[in-house]
Amino acid sequence: MVAGNFKVCVVGGAGGIGQPLSMLMAMDPNVAELCVYDLTVSMVPAEGVAADLSHLNKKSKVKGYAFDMADRAIDKAAECLTGCHLVLVPAGVPRKPGQDRKDLLNINAGIAKNIVEACAKYCPEAVVALIVNPVNTVVPAMCELWKKKGLNPCKIVGVSTLDVVRASKFVHEITGAPIDGLEVPVIGGHAGTTILPLFSQCPAASAIPADKIPDLDTKVQNAGTVVVTAKNGKGSATLSMAYAGARLGKAVLAGLAGEASVECAYVASSVTELPYFASKVTFGKQGVETVHPIGDLSDYEKGRLAELTPILLEEITAGLEYAKENE
Ligand code: NAD
Ligand code: LMR
Repeated sequence: MVAGNFKVCVVGGAGGIGQPLSMLMAMDPNVAELCVYDLTVSMVPAEGVAADLSHLNKKSKVKGYAFDMADRAIDKAAECLTGCHLVLVPAGVPRKPGQDRKDLLNINAGIAKNIVEACAKYCPEAVVALIVNPVNTVVPAMCELWKKKGLNPCKIVGVSTLDVVRASKFVHEITGAPIDGLEVPVIGGHAGTTILPLFSQCPAASAIPADKIPDLDTKVQNAGTVVVTAKNGKGSATLSMAYAGARLGKAVLAGLAGEASVECAYVASSVTELPYFASKVTFGKQGVETVHPIGDLSDYEKGRLAELTPILLEEITAGLEYAKENE
């Protein structure tokens, strides 16, 4: 593998997240080739998104691929996926006001399975970063299917970076501390109370009185719903998600290039009693290199961890069952 010359595919690349995410990845100096993969029925043809991005004066070559689901898309994906080092997956249905991320499971797990199977066939060495919701359940389901094919689970990554981005922004807004370098680790999962920001591990957040932390915690948990409500039935977070997804994608590529890089991500884990968990992860030459322990927690955070554990376990179990039933 040559550092800085990676092939990246964005599946769902013509969608709300997919377009800006494709743009940010096309601008990454580590990307030599970017494939925009979507369905023929997407709002904008994938080839059109690619033609547009191909004019950026960046080194990446951008190609678009549109597949018809009825036309054995998995077979046609060969050219697009073969040789990929990183596949970012924002393909799937976003929620509407009143819906929970869990309500997307039936439709989105089917979409993710189709894509993960195509990756297993054509780019089994790639890191597959799943943005599609519900992350808490889709990631365990897809990781189990991946393992059953004899593939390395260190390649399957659930993208929870947006929670870190949000928590860090909110601490900056409250404290006025410089945004650069301000980082709140977020552990657990990516839905409701399973999202656990560790303000106690962010030096800038020490300026926030303890009695204000529960409201700030709730604000991070509900941030996705705030966007869904504001978009009023026309989707969920796309631009901030593309920003966060590109941050994760760039960290993965930096790791593959030999520059180990740390981000929080939701992965197969043994740092708690749960088999899948978001915590700090070092990305290296093989993908997930180290899953870091969660570190010291405040009493409030310890209570929250105890509260979220059975909820996240139930959502993980749903994923393991999906994998069993859909081999
Ligand atoms: P969108 O509807 O705007 O775009 C989804 C795209 O996926 C569409 O272009 C669609 O044609 C494509 N697609 C659907 N099935 C496909 C398949 N089988 N193969 C290839 N492409 C396919 O939706 P969006 O707003 O971009 O959101 C996408 C997903 O990301 C949703 O499930 C949403 O809940 C999730 N999301 C996750 C996070 C996170 O933090 N992990 C944040 C925001 C959104
Ligand atoms: C988010 O956190 O913005 C995403 O998971 C999308 C959603 O449904 O809230």
